[in-house]
Amino acid sequence: MKIRNFSGGEKTRIQLATILLQPFDLLLLDEPTNHLDIEMIYWLEKYLSSMDKPYLIISHDRHFLDNTVTKIAEIRNYTIDTYSGNYSQYREQLQMRLELQEKTFRKQQKKIDRMEKQIDQYRIWGRARDSEKMFVRAKELEKRLGKVEKTNLPKKEKKIKLNFETEKRSGNDVYTFENMSFGFPGNTLASNINMRIFYQNKIAILGTNGCGKTTFLKLLNGKILPQSGNFKKGASLDIGYYDQMHLELDDSITVMQTIWQLVPLAPKGYVFSYLAKYGFTGDEVEKQVSVLSGGEKARLYLAKLIHEKPNFLILDEPTNHLDINMISYLEDALMEFDGTIVFVSHDRYFIEKIAEKKWIFNSGTIKKTSQKLDDLFFQKEKKKKNENNKPKNTENRKTNPIILKKLSTKIDKISDILDFKIEKLDTLELEFSKPEIYNNQQKVKSLTDNIKGINKEIEDLRNQLNEFENEYLELL
Ligand SMILES: Nc1ncnc2c1ncn2[C@@H]1O[C@H](COP(=O)(O)OP(=O)(O)O)[C@@H](O)[C@H]1O
Ligand SMILES: [Mg+2]
Repeated sequence: MKIRNFSGGEKTRIQLATILLQPFDLLLLDEPTNHLDIEMIYWLEKYLSSMDKPYLIISHDRHFLDNTVTKIAEIRNYTIDTYSGNYSQYREQLQMRLELQEKTFRKQQKKIDRMEKQIDQYRIWGRARDSEKMFVRAKELEKRLGKVEKTNLPKKEKKIKLNFETEKRSGNDVYTFENMSFGFPGNTLASNINMRIFYQNKIAILGTNGCGKTTFLKLLNGKILPQSGNFKKGASLDIGYYDQMHLELDDSITVMQTIWQLVPLAPKGYVFSYLAKYGFTGDEVEKQVSVLSGGEKARLYLAKLIHEKPNFLILDEPTNHLDINMISYLEDALMEFDGTIVFVSHDRYFIEKIAEKKWIFNSGTIKKTSQKLDDLFFQKEKKKKNENNKPKNTENRKTNPIILKKLSTKIDKISDILDFKIEKLDTLELEFSKPEIYNNQQKVKSLTDNIKGINKEIEDLRNQLNEFENEYLELL
């Protein structure tokens, strides 16, 4: 196979394997989860946490940072601040730090006001009573005022408001696949696909590296055709396609031209102010696309995409090069978007926030799944172990609707119990915040035991649920 045809993830995986096989004292990882599939990210998390050597990571994968690091260094306004803890803990501390800084600033502002008023007052008295003493006091106070070490108001981050407006809505049926298969000559990536995409669906496409996610999105975008079967494309679709490799951006033109091209008759000022909304100001708009950083390219690409006012977004790993702030702006925009979205991502925060449905490449086809990502990928190893003991499905069972119904009732029942237990766990954990509990050793112990027991029950229920859900999916 030509290296050129390796998927983005396959390339990263080869690179990572080469690095980890060599001896090292310190591991430096610059955006290691870019292009890695979720399963590999879980694997890397486990690898890093069991490793006894230090590592330094640059990453915008919030979930990954939560599971791997114990210290965060943030570069902001030309200084580095450090925080102990993982990403979530850093966010909390940062929030507190900013609030404290703002409070200190306001307090200080009041004090300064008071001092200034007092200085004026001394002067007024000084003049009225012709008293040198008052002027001396004013001077002294002025000196003290000059010595006050000033706190600044924390700089508010420049928020970028992305807004995916649609020009018109699409029909209700966006895509229908019947017995479809797709792939490359001699390499069918998935077959027997029977799925539908409806207006306003928000679907995440999941699967390991190289399974065919990008190829599937290309199929939706009409870049390739199915190998067999049917697909029906709905009416009035304005497709906005964000490709993983940013090939849709023309490297040979400038930032300015990229947008101007879309509206050649618009005045220059329009393009300037449009680009400013996406953080491109001053000389930046004259930069050639080829010299932009990955993040800048991604931002420009989004600006271009939004300008086209699509009603069907096909997004292939859109968060890869974005920083965490930009990812959260994109999340906000996509949550408000009133069209249809099909996307590939391995950013677990992003997926859980945006996706209302998950489709996964599995056993040579694409299937729906309602499982949470942690359950889907983390417990896979356990499932593999159990699989050998499980009875094989017979053709008979596959078509038997009564068995399906029974299974689905079981799944519903277990889900209900699980929800109940989780609620109970929440109430128990809240108990810890009560002084009459945390001041009493015995009560703490019995509560801890209680919580342990419930956690075990929850874990067992989750495993059961996974197994039944898998069985159900196999039978569909
Ligand atoms: N133009 C091509 N010709 C032949 N094989 C390809 C081509 N493009 C990609 N492939 C192969 O098809 C598989 C799926 O690729 P892709 O859809 O990019 O995977 P991913 O799920 O990681 O996005 C990979 O094994 C890749 O090497
Ligand atoms: Mg891909």
